[in-house]
Parts: sequence; C-alpha cells; structure tokens
Amino acid sequence: MSLDQYKATPRPELFDFHGVPMVNYFTDNWENIQNFQARPDDILIATYPKAGTTWASYILDLLYFGQQERQTSVPINHRVPFLEIFFPPHVSGKDQADNLPTSPRLIKTHFPVQFVPKSFWEQNCRMVYVARNAKDNMVSYFHFDRMNIAQPEPGDWSNFFQRFMEGKMVFGSWYDHVNDWWKKKESYPKIHYMFYEDMIEDTGREIDKLCSFLGLSPSAEDKMKVTVGVQFDNMKKDDVVNYSTSPDMDFKISPFMRKGKVGDWKNHFTVAQSEQFDEDYKKKMKDATLQFRTKV
Ligand code: A3P
Repeated sequence: MSLDQYKATPRPELFDFHGVPMVNYFTDNWENIQNFQARPDDILIATYPKAGTTWASYILDLLYFGQQERQTSVPINHRVPFLEIFFPPHVSGKDQADNLPTSPRLIKTHFPVQFVPKSFWEQNCRMVYVARNAKDNMVSYFHFDRMNIAQPEPGDWSNFFQRFMEGKMVFGSWYDHVNDWWKKKESYPKIHYMFYEDMIEDTGREIDKLCSFLGLSPSAEDKMKVTVGVQFDNMKKDDVVNYSTSPDMDFKISPFMRKGKVGDWKNHFTVAQSEQFDEDYKKKMKDATLQFRTKV
C-alpha cells in the first residue's frame, strides 16, 4: 500500500481490552501472541510507546549483531519484531518473531506487564524495560499520533494532555505501565529497568550496565562503535533505523526521529498545564523508589 492508500484508512478507535485501552492492530492476534513460544535466550525489549524503544533496540542489535551484513540492509522493525502488531497485509509481529533467524532473538513489546505471554516468564527470559519521564513521553506520543495512521487521532494538544493523564492512550496508562513493570522486578529479577534520561546523560555508562546485565563484554573499540552509532544524529540519517521506509508514518507531519531530547515538554506545556500535571502526578506516583527526571 502507498502512503496515499494508507492515508485513506480510517484511524482506529480505542476500546477497553482486559481493562486496558487498546486498538485492534494490537489485539487482533491476541490468541496467537499469548501462545507465543519463547526460547530461554530470547530478549524482550519492553516499553511504553515513545520511551526510547528504537534506541534500546538498536543498541542491543548492534551489541549482538553489529558485525553482520543484515545490519545495513534490514530495517530495525524487522530485525527486532514488534510482537503484538497485526497490520495486514504485513506479516504479523508474532510470525516475524517466530521466523527470526538470529540467536538470540530480540523482540519488542509495548504490552503492560500483565499482557506478556506466559512463556517468556516460564523460559526465564531476560527483559530490558526502558522508561521515560511522563512529560516528554506525552509530547513524543502526541507527535507520533499525529503522523501515524495506525494510531487514533490525537486531537489538539490540550485534549491529548487530558487523555494522557486519564490513561486513555493505546497501551493504557503511562502511570500503570511504568509502575507495574517496576514492581515486577521484585518477583522477577531478570528485568533490567533503564531510563531514557540516563541514556541521554551518559550513553556509554548505560551501555556498560546493559552489557553486564546481558553478560556481554565487548572490546573498547566495539563499545565505542555502538555508542557512536546510536547517537541521535547518526540514527536520524540512517534509513534502516529511522523508519523512513515505514508507510504508515507521514514524515511531512513529524519525523520519527523527532528531537531526541529531555525537556522538550517545556515547549508544549503551559505553566498552568505543568502545575495541573504535577499535582495529579503526585497522587498517581506513590512509589518513592521510582523517580523520573524531567531535565538532565
Ligand atoms: P522524540 O519524539 O521526543 O524525539 P520509540 O522508539 O519508543 O518510539 O521512541 C521514540 C522517541 O525516542 C523519539 O522521541 C525519538 O526521537 C527518540 N529517540 C530515538 N532514538 C534516539 C537516540 N538515539 N537518542 C535520543 N532519542 C532517541
């Protein structure tokens, strides 16, 4: 399908799915996804949408497969399939994951923790979770919904702002998502919980931590290659990771690699919105062990 054909496709509507707002593209293949057979060395990259999924995916992909030819030819969303996506006529994410030729298989999901297929837990798979502060996450999600026809209409900013606080987003409430994955670490230690802001502050340090979680020890030279390769400007111009080949996205409205900053929320939130947001945030985010930074 061309972009024009895509544009003619009506936007999906949000509906309640097992207590979480979702759209059909991520629920239509539910049975098959729930029956997904994970392998013990599979690595699940889990995020709330727009928290830095592609960044983390590319880091892991380079750490494991940086030396290989497929690096320069296969787009990142095929190298790291999106488990729950079902967007005909494209191959489903689940089928892509089943057929991944790599070992380990890197698999992406935006599912809240309770939706993760049970075999990932049974196989004791490693999971990398990336979280991003709510304000920047909201802004990034707003621009993504403007440009991606597989997402519901965002409406105007003030409307989107309210909906985000109410948790009426695809994949549900940001607040529940980050908290529930955070809590899960207590009972399931093979979750490495990362923060977008830490990655911005010191990418090399965060790659070191990730490597120690994954049991990898790249040479200083290889580590440097990864650190440089995943910088925003390098990813933005690289067609295999910048989603420029993805027909459901309209880069004329907003590019996928948009700003890549901490603090862009200040260009969107009014002072009154920021105060309203902070007040509401305090009520929802009671766990003092989970702290986000809105500037670095
Ligand atoms: P912005 O819209 O704020 O620019 P996801 O991959 O989860 O959809 O997240 C996309 C967000 O991560 C976008 O945020 C994108 O620019 C940002 N991003 C992707 N790669 C990045 C990188 N290498 N450095 C900083 N931000 C990055």
